Amino acid sequence: MPLRNSAERYGAVAILLHWSMALVLIALIASGLYMVRLPDAGFDTKKISLIIYHKELGMLALALAALRLAWRVGNVLPRLVEHLPDWQKLAARFAHLTFYALMLALPLTGWMMSSAAGIPVSFLGWFDLPDLVAYSERSFRAFIGIHKWLGYALGALIALHAAAALRHHWGLRDETLTKMWPGARS
Ligand code: HEM
Ligand code: HEM
Repeated sequence: MPLRNSAERYGAVAILLHWSMALVLIALIASGLYMVRLPDAGFDTKKISLIIYHKELGMLALALAALRLAWRVGNVLPRLVEHLPDWQKLAARFAHLTFYALMLALPLTGWMMSSAAGIPVSFLGWFDLPDLVAYSERSFRAFIGIHKWLGYALGALIALHAAAALRHHWGLRDETLTKMWPGARS
């Protein structure tokens, strides 16, 4: 299977990045929603450990998003299936661009939130990253709110995007899903 995209289908690198990031992003939304609902205090360190894992996985997502953006800019973009009405082509491309914006904005607001709280962000436990904003209780609260709503928006867009992909595959029986599937021929 070719590494690079062609006009007809996605190549191995784009497919690997797409599906590994789908797993990572879904895990981040699920862990985020779960951990904020755990009680704060006590001897139970579960909440703290989950927040640490969430932050490290979130920074990995940022690195993967940067790599993916670079790969997308340096590759041809496979055509959408021909039979789509113009508004659906526009909606699909708009959704894909919105995904890129969210893939970058979510980790960045998470990082800003931690900087504002005065807690350094580590990259996979290897080294600490610099603070993005100064310590401030007010900006900390603001970034929590933004991060939360961006997280909800990403969840909603994933649901819509996955439903559209499954409708193409099972309902319209076209190549939309197979061209993003490893090994499958269009
Ligand atoms: C694509 C990456 C990310 C996604 C999809 C994501 C998603 C989420 C979601 C859905 C929540 C729960 C919000 C709520 O219901 O209140 C959350 C909370 C949180 N996230 Fe992320 N996150 C990401 C990256 C990061 C990063 C990189 C950091 C920090 C470096 C981070 C730090 C936090 C913290 C500290 C909370 C808890 C906030 C609170 O105490 O209310 N996140 N995240
Ligand atoms: C979980 C179920 C998912 C399914 C079934 C799915 C399916 C697909 C399919 C079939 C395509 C090819 C569309 C085409 O070009 O005609 C695609 C592209 C795309 N998907 Fe997903 N996807 C899923 C999750 C996600 C997630 C979580 C993201 C979040 C980043 C995402 C972001 C994208 C982007 C940005 C593209 C355009 C190609 C690119 O620029 O990388 N997808 N998806």
